[in-house]
Amino acid sequence: MEVTNVTEYQAIAKEKLPKMAYDYYASGAEDQWTLAENRNAFSRILFRPRILIDVSKIDMSTTVLGFKISMPIMIAPTAFQKMAHPEGEYATARAASAAGTIMTLSSWATSSVEEVASTGPGIRFFQLYVYKDRNVVAQLVRRAERAGFKAIALTVDTPRLGRREADIKNRFVLPPFLTLKNFDGLDLGKMDQANDSGLASYVAGQIDRTLSWKDVKWLQSITSMLILVKGVITAEDTRLAIQNGAAGIIVSNHGARQLDYVPSTIMALEEVVKAAQGRVPVFLDGGVRRGTDVFKALALGASGIFIGRPVVFSLAAEGEAGVKKVLQMLRDEFELTMALSGCRSLKEITRDHIMTEWDAPRTLPAARINEEGRKALTDLDEEKRFRSEAVEELERKEEEFVANESEL
Ligand code: GLV
Repeated sequence: MEVTNVTEYQAIAKEKLPKMAYDYYASGAEDQWTLAENRNAFSRILFRPRILIDVSKIDMSTTVLGFKISMPIMIAPTAFQKMAHPEGEYATARAASAAGTIMTLSSWATSSVEEVASTGPGIRFFQLYVYKDRNVVAQLVRRAERAGFKAIALTVDTPRLGRREADIKNRFVLPPFLTLKNFDGLDLGKMDQANDSGLASYVAGQIDRTLSWKDVKWLQSITSMLILVKGVITAEDTRLAIQNGAAGIIVSNHGARQLDYVPSTIMALEEVVKAAQGRVPVFLDGGVRRGTDVFKALALGASGIFIGRPVVFSLAAEGEAGVKKVLQMLRDEFELTMALSGCRSLKEITRDHIMTEWDAPRTLPAARINEEGRKALTDLDEEKRFRSEAVEELERKEEEFVANESEL
């Protein structure tokens, strides 16, 4: 049956992939509350479309860190893409280039930075995990820069790996024919079997838990690539990221795979946008499955969004063609949303084109308060009427009594 939306690829991927691989991509942390909320929160934001605007021409193009792209929909880093499809990151890179958008390559890719660069021209960012061994990091950053990557997305929410219970039950490890290709020559490309998640053990062994803001400065001292801080969801950290030289912020909860019960990214977005005060661009990933979601994020102040799971699921289903189709479907849906909202360019998308539940005190509840207020007044009136009737009755009885007395 024809695939007509991004979400449908998930069920196809589930059928096609070994359970261990599918579960790895699909899982969130612990109760997976944030995983569901990343989706659900979008459905609580509604539109305030404008009508009778000439929308015969719509321009979705934009500029990210100075790089012109065809639409504000980009590819988030997701690890181990060859576990989804033999062409893995190669297919994703080609699909992103064909769509005129940015691909972010994961540190834990199953293809190296050089291999991805060899697929042809394209604007690419590199997602970085900071290893305990800083020589490893410095080498990798240098290689990414040489391979033409334009920016680093520094993941800051993973001092330890979140508890993904499916991976623990499955004793998740990378299939033996795959390696973390960027680390092959550094003796860090293999993930050992563990008696829980092999990836969680790998992270515990290699990733630097001491990472702090000073390291963001250190990173700037070893590269001229711009740095996006990925994993910010509060105003406090937004201000710190800017103070420490971030060129942009990615509002992310790591696809709900790290700390459970953090808010959805779309709920956290506006706080970050306000704290950024336009000093750096703010992006979002997490739960985007529709063009309407893209529009909502932009209306809340995002400069663009990234998609993660839709890429691996479509890759599993149809390889490069699947990823191309996902990008095309989101593009078409986003264009339609713009047309139906009366927006011809990204700068015409405003906060007034949507309403959120935190706008409620200004609008919806006011009506409710009035309603309640009106009822209270009516009740009071009735009470008064009842009281005055009772008083009248008493007065009447008193008069009768007095009259009777005087007759006697
Ligand atoms: C990789 O970044 C993961 O969260 O599994």
